[in-house]
Amino acid sequence: MEILIFGAGAIGAFYGSRLAINQNVNVSVVCRSSYQAVKANGFSIKSPLFGDYKWMPTRTFANSSDARRAGVKWDYVVVSTKALPDVSDDSELVEGLIGEETAVVLIQNGIGVEEPYAQRFPSAVILSAVTITSAAQPEPGFIQHHRFTRINSGAYPKDHEKATSKNSVFVDLLTKAGIDDASAYSAQKLQMLRWHKVAINAAFNPTSVLSYETDNPSMVQDADMYEHMKGVIEEVLEVAQKLTGSQLPKEFPTAAQILDNAKKSPKGSYPSMLADWRGQKKMELEVILNNPIQMARSKGLAVPRLQTMYALLRRAQATREQDFKSNL
Ligand SMILES: NC(=O)c1ccc[n+]([C@@H]2O[C@H](COP(=O)([O-])OP(=O)(O)OC[C@H]3O[C@@H](n4cnc5c(N)ncnc54)[C@H](OP(=O)(O)O)[C@@H]3O)[C@@H](O)[C@H]2O)c1
Repeated sequence: MEILIFGAGAIGAFYGSRLAINQNVNVSVVCRSSYQAVKANGFSIKSPLFGDYKWMPTRTFANSSDARRAGVKWDYVVVSTKALPDVSDDSELVEGLIGEETAVVLIQNGIGVEEPYAQRFPSAVILSAVTITSAAQPEPGFIQHHRFTRINSGAYPKDHEKATSKNSVFVDLLTKAGIDDASAYSAQKLQMLRWHKVAINAAFNPTSVLSYETDNPSMVQDADMYEHMKGVIEEVLEVAQKLTGSQLPKEFPTAAQILDNAKKSPKGSYPSMLADWRGQKKMELEVILNNPIQMARSKGLAVPRLQTMYALLRRAQATREQDFKSNL
C-alpha cells in the first residue's frame, strides 16, 4: 500500500509515522520548509504515549511536482496542511496525484474544507477526518506529540460502498498502529463532529489571541471569559443542528463539559492559532469562523459572536501583515 502525506507537519508526520508501522505500507511525504531536514534525517518524534522514535519516510518530496514525477499509484493521499483557502487552494496542488483508486483523506480543522476536493475530483473517494490530537513541530523534522490520539473519519459528502471500505481500511491501519481511539463514522455523524470541533476551536483559538495570549486553563477559570466561550460553543452547535437537520449525538460533550474539562489542561497550554499568531503566520480564520458564518447566513441564521471575532481577527491579521511589510 502506498500512502502520501501532503503537508507533513505536526499532525501529518505524527499520523504518518504511526501508519508506517504497518507491514507492507509505504508512507511518503511532501514537505515544504522542513524538506532539507526531513530528507536528510527523517522525523524524530517525542510522544508521551509512544516514546521517542525516529521515522524515515519511504520517499520525501520537496513539492507536489516531484511527487507526481515519481509516478506512484497512491492508495491514500492524506492532506494535513493548514486549511487556508485565503492563501492557496491545496486541492489544485494535489492534482495529478489522485488516481482512480486514490482516496483523499483530509485531516484538517474547519468547516467546508472538503468541498474544493469534491469539486475537483468528483469520482474520487473523499474522506473527512477530525482529530483532537495535540502536537507541534517546534523545529524542522522534530514532532512533539503532547496528548490525545483520537481521530474519526467518514466519507464526504455521503456514504457509499467504496468510500466505506476505503475508510475502514484507513481506520484499521491506525488502530493496528496503536491509535486505539481511531474510529469510522458515518458521513452525517462526521460532519456533526466537524461542527463540534469547530465550536471548540472557535471558542478557544480566537479568544486566546484576542485576550492577549491567554492559556487554556486561565481562559476557562475567568468567569467573563467562560461565559463568552460557552456562548460561542452554544451558538455554533445550535446552528450546526439547524443546518444539518440532525441532533448532536448524546456522547458529544456539552459546552459546560468542554469548558470544565479544559480547567484540567496544563498551565501554559495554548490553542494552536496562538502559535500561528505569534509566528506571524496566517490563522485558519476562514474555515473556523467565516465558512460557518457564511453557511449560517445563507439560511438566515445569526451568529453574532462568530461574526464579531472574525471581524476583529481578520482586521488584526491584516494590520499585522501591513506593519510587517512596512518594517522590512
Ligand atoms: N497541531 C495540532 O495539535 C492540531 C490538532 C488538531 C487539528 N489540527 C489541524 O490539523 C491541520 C494541520 O495542522 P498542523 O498543526 O499539523 O500544521 P503544521 O504543523 O503547520 O503542518 C502543516 C504542514 O504542511 C506544510 N505545507 C503547507 N503547504 C504546503 C505545500 N504547498 N507543500 C508542502 N507542504 C506544505 C507546512 O509547511 P511549512 O512549514 O513550510 O508551512 C507544514 O509543515 C490544521 O487544519 C490544524 O488546525 C492540528
